[in-house]
Amino acid sequence: MRTEHARPIRLSDYRPPDWLVDTVDLDIALHPTRTRVRSRLRLRPNPQAAGPAAVVLDGDDITPLSVRIDGVPMADSAYLATPDGLTIPQPPAGPFVLEIETEIDPSANTKLMGLYRSSGNYCTQCEAEGFRRITFFPDRPDVMAVYTTRIEADRDEAPVLLGNGNLIEQGDVPGTTRHFAVWHDPFPKPCYLFALVGGRLGARTATFTTMSGRTVALGVYVESGKEERAGYALEALERSMRWDEQAFGREYDLDVFNIVAVADFNMGAMENKGLNIFNDKYILASPETATDADYAHIEAVIAHEYFHNWTGNRITCRDWFQLCLKEGLTVFRDQEFSSDMRSRPVKRIADVRVLRGHQFVEDAGPLAHPVRPDTYREINNFYTATVYEKGAEVVRMLETLLGRERFRAGMDLYFTRHDGRAATVEEFVACFAEAAGTDLSQFMLWYAQAGTPELAVTRRDDAQAGTLSLEIAQVLPPTPGQPSKLPMVIPLALGLVGPDGDDLPIRRAGHGPVERGVLVLTRAAETFVLEGVPAGTVPSLNRGFSAPVKINADLTSDDLRFLAAHDSDPFNRWQAVQTLASELLIENVAVIRAGGAVRHDGGFVHALAAVLADERLAPAYVAQVLSIPSEGDIARDIGRDVDPEAIYLARQALRRALGNDLAPTLRILYERLRQDGPYSPDAASAGRRALRNVCLDLLAAPGHPAAIALAAAQYSEADNMTDRMAALATLALHDTPEREAALADFFERFRADPLVIDKWFALQAMIPDPGTLDRVRGLAAHPAFSLANPNRVRALIGSFAQANHTQFNRADGEGYRLVVDTVLALDGVNPQVAARLATAFRSWRALEPTRRAAARAGLERLAGTASLSRDVADIVERSLGER
Ligand code: TRP
Ligand code: ZN
Repeated sequence: MRTEHARPIRLSDYRPPDWLVDTVDLDIALHPTRTRVRSRLRLRPNPQAAGPAAVVLDGDDITPLSVRIDGVPMADSAYLATPDGLTIPQPPAGPFVLEIETEIDPSANTKLMGLYRSSGNYCTQCEAEGFRRITFFPDRPDVMAVYTTRIEADRDEAPVLLGNGNLIEQGDVPGTTRHFAVWHDPFPKPCYLFALVGGRLGARTATFTTMSGRTVALGVYVESGKEERAGYALEALERSMRWDEQAFGREYDLDVFNIVAVADFNMGAMENKGLNIFNDKYILASPETATDADYAHIEAVIAHEYFHNWTGNRITCRDWFQLCLKEGLTVFRDQEFSSDMRSRPVKRIADVRVLRGHQFVEDAGPLAHPVRPDTYREINNFYTATVYEKGAEVVRMLETLLGRERFRAGMDLYFTRHDGRAATVEEFVACFAEAAGTDLSQFMLWYAQAGTPELAVTRRDDAQAGTLSLEIAQVLPPTPGQPSKLPMVIPLALGLVGPDGDDLPIRRAGHGPVERGVLVLTRAAETFVLEGVPAGTVPSLNRGFSAPVKINADLTSDDLRFLAAHDSDPFNRWQAVQTLASELLIENVAVIRAGGAVRHDGGFVHALAAVLADERLAPAYVAQVLSIPSEGDIARDIGRDVDPEAIYLARQALRRALGNDLAPTLRILYERLRQDGPYSPDAASAGRRALRNVCLDLLAAPGHPAAIALAAAQYSEADNMTDRMAALATLALHDTPEREAALADFFERFRADPLVIDKWFALQAMIPDPGTLDRVRGLAAHPAFSLANPNRVRALIGSFAQANHTQFNRADGEGYRLVVDTVLALDGVNPQVAARLATAFRSWRALEPTRRAAARAGLERLAGTASLSRDVADIVERSLGER
């Protein structure tokens, strides 16, 4: 295994910077291969630093053309340029001006970090450490400066020039074909929030009047010709801006807010100050090309990046260990926004599905890490579900523990106290402790201890006394580097569903009413005695998923069916059905592996039928209840010796049974939910489509030709992408002539539209047939595929590795081979995306022995490769590491 790589960075090694930068003046002359960057930094010694020190600037893949101190050129021997930076051992004692000139080649930049080109346009990505690929700089978020950027380019090549802040000057460069724009951002910011864009772009624009009456010019820029598809994003931005004023009192602060969509982007989007840059997948939408899910994602990502203006930009992170300070908090804020714009229960269910499907999986494997890691080798590998989604859950728990008002008071204190600063998680939590007058030291363990807490709940009824005792034990399993753990503080929202199905008041014997129904666990084991509880009462635990934990409760199938019918908490009503399904599926997986016949559970079918018949329930909600646990969910619940093939068969058997047993109801619903009027992406219409398409999929599950014909008809008659794609996804599960015909038709219809072709790649990569391996190999050679575009890679190879459980985990190891080959080919092009793809192996230890050995061999092949990037090496070594 490789040994020569950067040593780990540790939180405990944090030291304030030796030098501060007050202002940054950049002059960037764009050119396809020789972009010239002149940077002028006003440096001053940090009064908080230990004493006189060298100036150490970061650099990556750049060389200095000239260096000047206070206008005087430096001799080459007076500074030291290395592959990763520039050091001035003997700088002036006091403040000085440092000018550095570099030349960079944006066309050769395939890593998509720093300045690069996408569809001929120029753009930047600086988080986390991309600014150092543009110029030498102390590339750390606690160095905050005021930026002025002059951008110059050929007028034809880049008629649009955008930067951070407000536009203060623009004009032509006399006697040339070039022009320029000067942007000034008055708010001090870390360099990871720097951005510029130049190119031929079209825009949708609007103005927004803030709560104090200021006017902000809004623009959403896209490739010329696609302006029509930017309208929804612009509306979502306006809704986000209004919501942040109303929900958090946060007003926008510049005269301009621009968003630019680019086709080549490593992640979802980026919150650069006043100039968000997006993966165009999260901007472009039209009824014909985007699904309801796409619209919802666009709204959520627009909100997320906008909300960063306060949580991330005005208040940033002291160092990258504090990443959750901006990401977890901002995810919490965008989740709340979407809940207010759409259905709160449905949003909660969707978010918990994502949390369990990604974060719980991460927590259970070799890549588990705390919400705030204390060591890393490659920070790009820590933009994880744990930092983002679990980070959001931790903020949500603060709200649950303190109540809405005290939570809001803590947020207000955070905004006033830390505005303009780079903060830490401790400082954030201290605001809540102070505002609420409470001790949150045990709560800090949520940031420090990795792993998903497991609660064992045992109930004891005392009919005589009218009490119900809940004995609750918590265990936090060991994770890499953390063999033993301390008990966590767990806010457990509780309901007591009385025998008539109505909620009972919650009173603790000797304590009185339980505030907001939330039991607060603090010890490894404790017992809560609840009084006034009649016989036949069923506890509803962790309502609304108040804590990100696993619960093992001694509830019977009858109890679960009772909750599925009566729980007033929509989340737990859904959860009861999921738990019933999961127990049945796990049992049948064992039966299949033993060569037996699967058990058909009429009780479960009844529980579903009852939900289907409840006309008070919103269609979007019913769609969630009808969606049984995924193969990934079942694998996670089984946890060890996982056989993906048996899981697939058990799940298929249940889907077929539901399709047969519920056919008449599904058919009636399918007809009743038929769309009337033109397509609209609003949540209610989307909910009807979602339910209708779940009905279609279940109807087709048994494979009857009539249902396949129904799907084929929906495919060709659809007037929107949601219905067309849903029908195609259903057809994809059935090896029929209709499938191949529809796939061929889809390509011809949308061949000019890369984002739609991604759907075509992804769908085929997820087909659970042995033939998929060759299909994916063939598609990787398709002219529309490219390793240089992250969306293409994620659509084809990412979908195969993350969402095709049977074929990625083929017993012959060929699925692993395909993904390892792709990781190796991609590593030289874009290591960040290659590393992300390599995380597909994160659950390898949980597999049955044959697949486990094959997956390990795949990881070892990666580990044995010379000159792996630090990104991939880090993932591979942690994946293989001792637990
Ligand atoms: N800060 C971005 C967000 O969460 C994440 C991001 C975008 C990013 N691009 C990146 C992180 C590139 C690392 C590298 O909204
Ligand atoms: Zn973010």
